[in-house]
Amino acid sequence: MQQPSIKELKEWRNVMLMHRFALEEVNTKLKILNDEFQFIHDYNPMEHLKSRVKSFESITTKLERKGLDITPENAYAHVRDIAGIRITCSFVSDIYKIYEMLANQDDMTILNVKDYVENPKPNGYRSFHLICEVPIFLTNTSRKMCVEIQIRTVAMDFWASLEHKIYYKYKSTAPAHLTQELYEAAAIIQHLDDKMKYLNDEIDQYKNEVEGKE
Ligand code: GTP
Ligand code: MG
Repeated sequence: MQQPSIKELKEWRNVMLMHRFALEEVNTKLKILNDEFQFIHDYNPMEHLKSRVKSFESITTKLERKGLDITPENAYAHVRDIAGIRITCSFVSDIYKIYEMLANQDDMTILNVKDYVENPKPNGYRSFHLICEVPIFLTNTSRKMCVEIQIRTVAMDFWASLEHKIYYKYKSTAPAHLTQELYEAAAIIQHLDDKMKYLNDEIDQYKNEVEGKE
């Protein structure tokens, strides 16, 4: 790759900065929604929020994979996960609650949804992904930015982190028994999510009965 000019470097810094602003915008929105939910229902659907701006190296790798020139314009137009947020929650039902809250936001457009919770990937991966578009407001203008949001339970996150580690270690040539065992672990994770949901419902019902008697 030829050395970028000062102008190009500045444009790349701009790409990173605009996506950081988009992350801040969406993070604030998520925190407000979570706090409001806590206020009304005495419960937090979002356990944990993690965000990152994709590294320059990962952006260029993705553009190369797509057969596109490495330019800031292509990054804006074709890499929709430069700004990424991961939300972890306790229960599968929380995932859909969060999705519903996001879909109801007037200033946010949901461009794409991938429900790997309902339709897991062949390797067992489960998570709910969405790409949304939000405006950021600058000195003289406003600009629409894409943010990728991944929503998953703590159990799904545990599985995905391990799978990611193995994938990176073996670069897609993992021994067959590991791939198979991971797939089996995904089924156990799904069972655990179902069990925790059942227990939580039972606890809620018991609490309501006790409170009803008081
Ligand atoms: P990328 O080019 O990787 O961003 O994927 P995509 O554009 O086809 O989108 P998709 O929604 O399928 O995946 C987006 C992101 O979800 C990935 O960058 C990962 O962070 C995560 N992801 C998707 N599939 C897997 C998987 O099989 N295992 C793990 N650990 N993470 C995954
Ligand atoms: Mg990605």
